[in-house]
Amino acid sequence: MVKFLLLALTFGLAHAQMDGPWKTIAIAADIVDKIEISGELRLYFHQITCEKECKKMNVTFYINENGQCSLTTITGYLDDGKTYRSQFQGDNHYATVRTTPENIVFYSENVDRAGRKTKLVYVVGSGHPLTLEQKEKIVEYAKENNIPPGNIREVLTTDYCPR
Ligand SMILES: *[C@@H]1O[C@H](CO)[C@@H](O)[C@H](O)[C@H]1NC(C)=O
Repeated sequence: MVKFLLLALTFGLAHAQMDGPWKTIAIAADIVDKIEISGELRLYFHQITCEKECKKMNVTFYINENGQCSLTTITGYLDDGKTYRSQFQGDNHYATVRTTPENIVFYSENVDRAGRKTKLVYVVGSGHPLTLEQKEKIVEYAKENNIPPGNIREVLTTDYCPR
């Protein structure tokens, strides 16, 4: 009984940490064009909504194309208990690499319609700029995934889309 309650609590917390409003703080990509201003993978997170303990995850985000914000929702399906799969600008596989009450870090791979693969790291948070410690962590995540640290973009200041 105690074990069951603990398990329920753990799942409950994990769930609570994902669901809710989020903003993109920083993005890194090995193909940096994809995440520059007006880049097709420069996603400004808006909301995450979980279903079935987050086996199904809706991610709502803005894309800013030539100054126009358009809101998009994608649905990610948990493939193997760890990796989500969804369609947006091609095929995407992504996983959470870190979840705290303040931040979620996603590692994602996109294969576009031309078959070109991009490796990305998305850091979302409640809207506070990065602390020095968080910046160091992002550099670490980028390096671990062979993304040059020079390809990290702090996008919070260019997010003009409505809330
Ligand atoms: C997730 O998105 C799908 C498709 O847009 C929608 O049908 C579904 O109701 C959404 N679920 C939640 C929990 O928002």
